[in-house]
Amino acid sequence: MIGVLVSGEGSNLQALLDAGLPVAAVASNRPGVRALERAESAGVPAAAFPIDDFADRGQRDMTMANWLQEQGVRLVVCAGYMQLLTPMFLDRFRERIVNVHPSLLPEFPGARAIDEALAAGVETTGVTVHLVDEGLDTGPVIAQEQVPVEPRETLAERIHAVEHRLLPEVVRELCAH
Ligand code: GRF
Repeated sequence: MIGVLVSGEGSNLQALLDAGLPVAAVASNRPGVRALERAESAGVPAAAFPIDDFADRGQRDMTMANWLQEQGVRLVVCAGYMQLLTPMFLDRFRERIVNVHPSLLPEFPGARAIDEALAAGVETTGVTVHLVDEGLDTGPVIAQEQVPVEPRETLAERIHAVEHRLLPEVVRELCAH
């Protein structure tokens, strides 16, 4: 059973749902986002865990980890989740947390990867799916796919299309183990 962590639009969550993967729960750090609506439309339990409701990130992550485990989650997918996870959360799902990122890591980690690739003038960027550790977009790479930067106007769209194919492929494979 998969738990998906989201913060915003949720197009990668939608790709996992559309692929028929066993999404058991969706957790967001932000209430009211489109990703939560997508979960609800699919009949998947969804909840928000905003940091302001907790004493600190550790407390938030503990509550979120407990809730995910109550829903039967064994594999966590960060799909546009824009927060770092605390060590306690990482320990709970050790080696069972993956993230999708819109660059060829270790190039362009962080929240502005597509803009930074454009600004750097590289010819090729891409998509990475990797295991999550305590760093920002660090952790062992599971799969990468290249995307040519040109035509620049459509780069973001083409990257997202690759994410929506690659992430469900990797998650399907991990679910089989
Ligand atoms: C994706 O580009 C993902 O790689 C990045 O944030 C974006 C989230 O999009 N980490 P969405 O919320 O899945 O639509």
